Amino acid sequence: MKQSIDLSVRMGSVTFKNPFIVGSGPTVKNVDQIKEAHDNGWAGASLKLAIEPFPYLNFPPRYRWFKKERYHIFTAEKRLTTKEALALMEEGRRATGDDFILMPNITYDGEDYEGWGRMAKQFEDAGAHAIELNLCCPNMSFNLSSTGESTGKKTGASLGNDLDELPKVIEAVVSAVKVPVVAKFSPEGNRLAQSSYVALKHGATAVGHAGNRLGIPDIDIRRPLQSVYRLQDQITLGCMSGPWLRPLALRDTYQMRRALGKEAFIIGSGGVSDLSSAVQQIMVGSDAVWICTETMIRGFDFLPKVLEELEAYMKDMGYFTIYDFRDILHANIKSAQDLTIHAGYAKVDTVRCKRCGICWKIGHCEAISHTLEGVTEIDPSLCLACSTCIDLCPYGAISMIEG
Ligand SMILES: Cc1cc2nc3c(=O)[nH]c(=O)nc-3n(C[C@H](O)[C@H](O)[C@H](O)COP(=O)(O)O)c2cc1C
Ligand code: SF4
Ligand code: SF4
Repeated sequence: MKQSIDLSVRMGSVTFKNPFIVGSGPTVKNVDQIKEAHDNGWAGASLKLAIEPFPYLNFPPRYRWFKKERYHIFTAEKRLTTKEALALMEEGRRATGDDFILMPNITYDGEDYEGWGRMAKQFEDAGAHAIELNLCCPNMSFNLSSTGESTGKKTGASLGNDLDELPKVIEAVVSAVKVPVVAKFSPEGNRLAQSSYVALKHGATAVGHAGNRLGIPDIDIRRPLQSVYRLQDQITLGCMSGPWLRPLALRDTYQMRRALGKEAFIIGSGGVSDLSSAVQQIMVGSDAVWICTETMIRGFDFLPKVLEELEAYMKDMGYFTIYDFRDILHANIKSAQDLTIHAGYAKVDTVRCKRCGICWKIGHCEAISHTLEGVTEIDPSLCLACSTCIDLCPYGAISMIEG
């Protein structure tokens, strides 16, 4: 009998029908968006952050998408009140079936830890399948402290990095609800692995990361004091996301999986936008992925094709479940001292070479020269086989020879 492909992943009592979840952000703020995600085959959605007491840092959204550099950046953002998010949870549950997992993304900013539990319980009563704790947002107190402001209460990424406060928050929520609790952290602060470990130890069902880094957006150096944002004065450290983030986000997941072991349920995110980026996240340790920026740029209807491609890919590779390839990259990620390096040299195909001169200028290369007529030559005895010329040549005229 032919074995069929199973895309589902299990997080405690909750089953995601596939590993794709709409990440908390501006595409999960109203019920039409949730319905569209559902209709396009997404396994679930995390609602936009609800914060209490309200308002905290709350502005109308001001975003920039630098398409050439492939990053998105923002600081000004609109959050939901608990009341708005609860109404959205109820509407969302009515508009979707039980196979669509809805998780509120919450932060409590009051003085008492019990407030976290009270907030979580309200969402459980409103139909949440799981509760997602926002311990990741770098645009809240972490942003303030990074620019020299003193902040009283820790929220978002600052709270996620505080290994004394964190257990109290997790325990307050876990003791208040029966549904799984997901702790979402930021790599900012460098405590991703430790914080995740602490969260699981104190009762969270799953952990995840936002991948986001705080950065300063590209400015116009002729008008350096003008904000790059439209209808916003000043720049700030901004939360960066999108495809440029992928290598860093892969590292984030890898470190979490290494620290947490096989059993932990991990949700990764950061630049996932297609089959390849999703599979790579799974291969370094993600059970599921949150996707936000791509849904902002392209909506939700790119997923059906990705799901189709994923099934075809798994068939080709002989994988039947997500667990057949989760973590497999770990076997080939070695420490810097354990690399196997092969000898070799670069060779130029003088017919393909268009004499553009790009490779002649490589600053660290002593092997490439050219004749007066412009014929490119590579001296194998001087070639260190570094590969730069191959990556630079626009005409595919250079290849590597082993030996
Ligand atoms: C505009 C914007 C708003 C976001 N808001 C939230 C949020 O409210 N809560 C949260 O946990 N993550 C939030 N995120 C983070 C995303 O859910 C996601 O984890 C991160 O951006 C990395 O994935 P991506 O590259 O697919 O966007 C936001 C991201 C963006 C770009
Ligand atoms: S592989 Fe590196 S060292 Fe060799 S020719 Fe190319 S750029 Fe020069
Ligand atoms: S970059 Fe390629 S095409 Fe240009 S000179 Fe070098 S080998 Fe020739």
